[in-house]
Amino acid sequence: MVRIILDTDIGSDVDDAMALALAMRSPEIQIEGVTTVYGNVDLRAKMARKMAQYGKRDDVRVYAGLNRTLLGNREIWMAGHEGDGLLTEDDKLAYEDRHAVDFIIETVMGQPGEITLVAIGPLTNIAACLIREPRIAQNVKEIVIMGGVTRLGDNGMHMRVVEHNIVCDPEAASLVFNSGAPIVMVGLDVTLKVTITEEERRRLLDTGDPLNMALARMIGKWFEFAKEEISYMHDPLTIALLLDRTLVRTEKMNIRVEYDHRPQTGQTIATLDPSGTVDVCLGVDHARAVGLLMDRLIGGRVGSAL
Ligand code: BDR
Ligand code: CA
Repeated sequence: MVRIILDTDIGSDVDDAMALALAMRSPEIQIEGVTTVYGNVDLRAKMARKMAQYGKRDDVRVYAGLNRTLLGNREIWMAGHEGDGLLTEDDKLAYEDRHAVDFIIETVMGQPGEITLVAIGPLTNIAACLIREPRIAQNVKEIVIMGGVTRLGDNGMHMRVVEHNIVCDPEAASLVFNSGAPIVMVGLDVTLKVTITEEERRRLLDTGDPLNMALARMIGKWFEFAKEEISYMHDPLTIALLLDRTLVRTEKMNIRVEYDHRPQTGQTIATLDPSGTVDVCLGVDHARAVGLLMDRLIGGRVGSAL
């Protein structure tokens, strides 16, 4: 059993909701709690609760976290479509009274070596936990992060681009990557290969299952909003690799995050280091990852490598 806390900016894209759905539909995963981060954390908490309702998982507890960046020195970027296709005005969606940071610290420290933190939004909550209780780094089982870009070229240079979760709060990201905690980093260069299309949306819709239908509606809204015909499954890959590590190829590295206000802010600079603390994903079996996601949601055959 993998015991997780899912720290999410659900609503920024449909992939957070997909990650939560995959976790809820995977018996190997025990969700200790869902924590929300970045901007309108109350709206995000309501979204997570609504997903839990659709998934008939009233046991999934949700805690709202920090609504600003770690230093409060950066604008919050909200797309404006958060909640579209999921929430209605008359939804009564209560979530827990406790702050996400308190919940994470108490849960991790209360069960040393047991809890995996899965971070699929900006790293503000996790950084705040590490400031309040630095021993989180030694007591967490691992931190699986969707964030950053570290594709190494033949010359060992990283790509000079940035990724949303890191660039939104690079100070927080720097603190987390430097904490010494065991980290798995699932970067954009890898997750961009994990995509679904109208075909998968239709398959979800056709199940008639309320959770899948909600996901299908959100994907449809996303197609309209982004004027895209594919939807990127960045965040679900973090959950998928907890189910099957052979989906990804990783290498040990150290990650430095640029966090000053020059143009390179948010870049994740990767250095190969066999004793590094970060397992960086460099490749993914994307067909098998999407297969696993769909099998779990649709309830059919389980991925071949499991
Ligand atoms: C990340 O940014 C968010 O919008 C997605 O949900 C994902 O976590 C991808 O860059
Ligand atoms: Ca996200």
